[in-house]
Amino acid sequence: MLILGIESSCDETAAAVVLGRREILSSVISSQIDIHKEWGGVVPEIASREHLIKIDPIVKEAVKRAGVSFEDIEAIAVTQGPGLVGSLMVGVSYAKALAFGLDVPIVGVNHIEGHFFSVEFENPPTEYPAMALIVSGGHTNLFYSPEAGNYRVVSRTRDDAAGEAFDKVAKMLGLGYPGGPIIEKYALEGNPKAIRFPIAKISDGRPDFSFSGLKTAVMRYLKTEGIEPVGEEEDVSQEIKDVCASFQDTVVRSLTRVLSKLASELKPKTLIVAGGVACNQALRESAESVGRKLDLPVYFPSRHLSTDNAAMIAAAGFYRLSQGEKACLNLSADVTMRLQNVDIEEAELRKKKVRYRL
Ligand code: KG4
Ligand code: ZN
Repeated sequence: MLILGIESSCDETAAAVVLGRREILSSVISSQIDIHKEWGGVVPEIASREHLIKIDPIVKEAVKRAGVSFEDIEAIAVTQGPGLVGSLMVGVSYAKALAFGLDVPIVGVNHIEGHFFSVEFENPPTEYPAMALIVSGGHTNLFYSPEAGNYRVVSRTRDDAAGEAFDKVAKMLGLGYPGGPIIEKYALEGNPKAIRFPIAKISDGRPDFSFSGLKTAVMRYLKTEGIEPVGEEEDVSQEIKDVCASFQDTVVRSLTRVLSKLASELKPKTLIVAGGVACNQALRESAESVGRKLDLPVYFPSRHLSTDNAAMIAAAGFYRLSQGEKACLNLSADVTMRLQNVDIEEAELRKKKVRYRL
């Protein structure tokens, strides 16, 4: 089945033509990074206006690059949520109009399920039960999936997402936006053991993540040590490189500590690490070492499939369509859409001593 995927949940306007769930014929992404850079983060109003301008040319370009015509498209998968309301509405409205015009089925996809399916293109088929750490600018969740399409959140962030922490710390250091790639670059030249930043302990003992305390610790450290943000055209000091390396090391350790603990309790057959932060090499290496320790394969998407893209939306849409799902033309954006169904027996998780949540 030839599926057109459309993604516009945040600041990327993306379209892709995908054959089934494993072959990408085209994937076009228009990033608004340069526009939002000026503001140090995504400005929702600007994002939706940009999507409006870009969506039609991006979809046309994806169809053209795939070497097909609109008449060949057999279904449309569009990100329904979670995300920014105005941004989501642009993609959903466009997809509905196109599906109506082409007279093809349309399916609304959960963006996070898209990240889950992003590993399908370049890895062997996911063996279930699987566990997926989805880490991006908007989300940091660990899912347990006993079978395709069933998800249980077994850990989540209590405050900031990991990518958001990278972005905020980079802003404090005067390094620009998005923070992840820049911090990673300077971390390579810094000492990860130079500063001991704390890993948050959750007071109720649940295996959750928390990154806002770390962000505050970095801020306090900069103040105490009198470290100023990097000015324009200024060289990045060794002190700042050490902050980058120590901060990154703390984020990676806090993510993989929970991954390792819950994977050894829940005993999945596959580990997945996806989302923008999965581009981070230190995180990849650390997750791989968890996999080696537990004798589990770890699947990552390649970098262009780690950050937001529409191929992953098409792949998840294909899966949803294969389960008989189809949306009507009253499909609407769902800003807080969750990826969790309660099909997994609570007793099953309790038996494995995991503190679960609904
Ligand atoms: O998945 P994504 O494109 O968008 C969301 O759904 O949020 O992720 C973007 C996030 C940003 O916060 C960015 O700083 C982070 O992913 N990121 C990284 C790296 N590359 C992107 N974080 C750490 N290391 C990286 N190399
Ligand atoms: Zn994302």
